[in-house]
Amino acid sequence: MPNQLAIFVSGRGSNMEAILAASANGELDAQIAVVLANDAQAKALTIAQEYGIPTVAVANQGLSRAQHESSILEALSSFKIDYIVLAGYMRILTASFLNHFRDPRGFYRVINIHPSLLPAFPGKSAYEEAFAYGVKVSGITVHLVDEQVDHGAILAQQAFPRHDDDTLETFKQRGLSVEHVLYPRVLQDICQHGIKVQTRERESVEI
Ligand code: GRF
Repeated sequence: MPNQLAIFVSGRGSNMEAILAASANGELDAQIAVVLANDAQAKALTIAQEYGIPTVAVANQGLSRAQHESSILEALSSFKIDYIVLAGYMRILTASFLNHFRDPRGFYRVINIHPSLLPAFPGKSAYEEAFAYGVKVSGITVHLVDEQVDHGAILAQQAFPRHDDDTLETFKQRGLSVEHVLYPRVLQDICQHGIKVQTRERESVEI
């Protein structure tokens, strides 16, 4: 039985699509059990439906964070999810939600992609901030999610250059094309070998 993934999205869904494509063409040995959005209008939902993947929209509008998260847990209850994959999901998940996906080592089976070389430029506007700062090299980070924003153990990073004649758009495009290769590749590694992290205490841990 392949690993079952739930992908959480909020908008465009280009990373989600890269993951769905990798699963469809055999590069990712995982089943995408469900794509969940916090916005029923998210373009990602339409793309997922085109791939024949079950989708669910759990709108956060008008709900407290606790109410929203408990609605998500209810929506996921009919699936057996091995990993939650955040792909442009613009909501912070609380410890109480994450605890439902805690593994025996105390990590959460929740993975995120962030468009900077963390710990540089956490937050919502990483491409914009890195570009405005004038970095010569930026990169993409795939990491485990913990209780802090863009903070959990790093699983993989890939750098890309900023060229002198870049505009913000060309810089973002270069980064996105790295994202679309890196994320499915890291997920495939997790599905085949589990999660291996180098903790900040420099202890290598397999979970
Ligand atoms: C990506 O840049 C991702 O790294 C960040 O949000 C963006 C989502 O884009 N977390 P998309 O919805 O996958 O196209």
